Amino acid sequence: MSADELQARITATAKPDTVLIDVAVLDESAVRARDIANTLSDEFVGRVRELETPENSTRADSRVVVEQRASIPSSPVVPKRARNIAVGLVLGLVLGVGFALIRDLLDNTVKDRTTLEQIANVGLVGTVPLDKERRRHAAIAFENDNSVIAEAFRKLRTNLQFLSVDNPPRVIVITSSMPHEGKSTTAINIALALAEAEHNVVLVDGDMRRPTLSKYLDLMSKVGFSTVLSGAVSIDDSLQKTRFPGLSVLTSGAVPPNPSELLGSQSARKVLAELRSRFDYVIIDSTPLLAVTDAAILAAGADGVLIMARFGQTKREQLAHAVGSLESVGAPLLGAVFTMVPTRGTGSYSYNYGYYGEDEGRRGGNSSTRGGSAESSKTTSANASESRDRSAGDLPARPVTQRRYKTT
Ligand SMILES: Nc1ncnc2c1ncn2[C@@H]1O[C@H](COP(=O)(O)OP(=O)(O)O)[C@@H](O)[C@H]1O
Ligand SMILES: [Mg+2]
Repeated sequence: MSADELQARITATAKPDTVLIDVAVLDESAVRARDIANTLSDEFVGRVRELETPENSTRADSRVVVEQRASIPSSPVVPKRARNIAVGLVLGLVLGVGFALIRDLLDNTVKDRTTLEQIANVGLVGTVPLDKERRRHAAIAFENDNSVIAEAFRKLRTNLQFLSVDNPPRVIVITSSMPHEGKSTTAINIALALAEAEHNVVLVDGDMRRPTLSKYLDLMSKVGFSTVLSGAVSIDDSLQKTRFPGLSVLTSGAVPPNPSELLGSQSARKVLAELRSRFDYVIIDSTPLLAVTDAAILAAGADGVLIMARFGQTKREQLAHAVGSLESVGAPLLGAVFTMVPTRGTGSYSYNYGYYGEDEGRRGGNSSTRGGSAESSKTTSANASESRDRSAGDLPARPVTQRRYKTT
């Protein structure tokens, strides 16, 4: 250790109004800190005696004594464990909350009713909860099902019947901005909910690119909408009865090379008009609006369109673009539906039956011209618990500091 290094570890302070000098030594080793302090004191005593002894005398004029020898300190002065833990906790908490806030600011998915209604420019007419069972069986057995999701579809059915009371929509296109937002599953269950209310319903697979209705409902896929449109098979021969009373299905048929052209054809309009005359409701599943024009083409010829937004997944811009593409073809947008809404835990979205007045107040003038809804809803923020989780996870690792002991 050089003299400078040694000096850097030593602090000597004179106590005011006393003749005492305090020597403090800071070192990584407690024993060495004590030894340095004691050696320094001894050396100082010797040096003062030498300096204060006149040349021809053996007695020093003044002398220094060690009042108190240094001992080995029991605990380090650096690091201050309790203080560091406290600082770490506070820092972690601040970081966690900050992180959650930033994530929330950057989260541009649709997660609440107001945002959805503002972007879609229509009322929310349904909230379909997330239900894992739907991944195995898309169709709900309404007959003996009073589950939350079945009730949600019954409510959606009721809301649909309130829309445009003078001219109730009977040919309804189900669409959304992106794939996997629950269009097909919702279309099936809207059709089933209407069939449960003694309506004669036909479900049409208007997604000729990635048709799923035949798979979801265990039906034949070879004949369907495309084969009827090409004139190869008649409507009667293509309609399939399902195990659900009141529900017939026209699957998409063989995948054609030109779905948009087929769907926009005169013959498509005729087929849909024919179905309209035979059934109380024609529910048409369709493609994502941002991928291809098929859904917009179908929507333009329908009585009404329901646009799905997958809770916490569909981005605001995506929804806005999708709505824009419907508006640009003059499609009659009836209402918006939230799909796959978590019902429990973080991000859950609870909904309940509101009083009429409360509902009207919130919806303002929109409800007279657009889809009215008898629902009211609330969002519960996921952030509180998220930030709690994150603050714990973000605690900085305990600083690795060399221990330093101080002895006097
Ligand atoms: N309410 C729901 N709860 C849970 N899973 C759902 C729900 N709706 C749809 N899904 C699942 O999400 C995936 C996409 O649904 P699908 O209806 O095929 O969407 P899209 O027609 O928009 O592509 C499927 O695996 C489906 O089983
Ligand atoms: Mg689909």
